[in-house]
Amino acid sequence: MQQAAEKTLAASDTGVPIVSLSEVGVVYPNGTVALSPLSLDIADDCVTVLLGPSGAGKSSLLRSLNLLVRPSSGTVRVRGEDIAQSAGTVRAHRRETAMVFQHHQLIGRQTALQNVLTGRLGKHSFWRTVFPFSEPERRLALACLQRVDLFEKALTRCDNLSGGQQQRVGIARALAQEPRMILADEPVASLDPASSERVLTLLRSICKEDRIPVVISLHQLEYAREFADRIVGLSAGKVVFDAAPAKLDHNALAAIYGG
Ligand SMILES: Nc1ncnc2c1ncn2[C@@H]1O[C@H](COP(=O)(O)OP(=O)(O)OP(=O)(O)O)[C@@H](O)[C@H]1O
Ligand SMILES: [Mg+2]
Repeated sequence: MQQAAEKTLAASDTGVPIVSLSEVGVVYPNGTVALSPLSLDIADDCVTVLLGPSGAGKSSLLRSLNLLVRPSSGTVRVRGEDIAQSAGTVRAHRRETAMVFQHHQLIGRQTALQNVLTGRLGKHSFWRTVFPFSEPERRLALACLQRVDLFEKALTRCDNLSGGQQQRVGIARALAQEPRMILADEPVASLDPASSERVLTLLRSICKEDRIPVVISLHQLEYAREFADRIVGLSAGKVVFDAAPAKLDHNALAAIYGG
């Protein structure tokens, strides 16, 4: 079992990781070193959880994976190709990378369905977005809502949904993007335990069923142990742990959180 989990750490079936960071460092314009140069491969079919204290660099690492944060050094390769070479490949990579946020970033006065359809906007040219969504796109959006078990709420305004339901709409919006990777930055930080379990179960099943990598930053150790195939522990911008959850022992926790 553990062998199987560790096998997924290395590479996807094709032998080429979806995203590969090579000596990637992030220094913000004010001089803050958020990530010291690190190398990391993200493979298909693997739920990777980023752990670390506040300020350790989890969000910076997550956002380097789709270049929302531009690394100050190193190379980001997508399926073997250095994507920073052209704005077009960066845009294409962002289009196929969906993000799920702590505060879901939905438009409260719009329905769940309208919010999910915004996941399709990146697929169209500016002029195309002026026109209504096509019938197949509406059907796809409804199927995404069905997948997160919110089909009945399709026409409900998002500000009338619970926090857990809103986060599931956020996941449906990510699915509508037909992503090849999902990045989730503290997706359960504002949720109660039952809703958190449900959201993380969903993200894990999407990873396994669709065979796309899911990278999640979390503060809750118990969820990391339950839902991750691989845990990457960060401390002060450095990777201090990178292994299957079973290996997250006392020493590993001390390396990540100090003490
Ligand atoms: N836009 C920014 N400009 C300058 N410094 C930043 C910026 N964003 C983050 N930082 C700094 O970079 C370091 C890493 O921040 P990051 O947000 O990646 O940490 P984190 O592990 O996600 O923390 P948290 O658990 O609080 O979300 C911190 O010292 C933070 O203050
Ligand atoms: Mg963060």
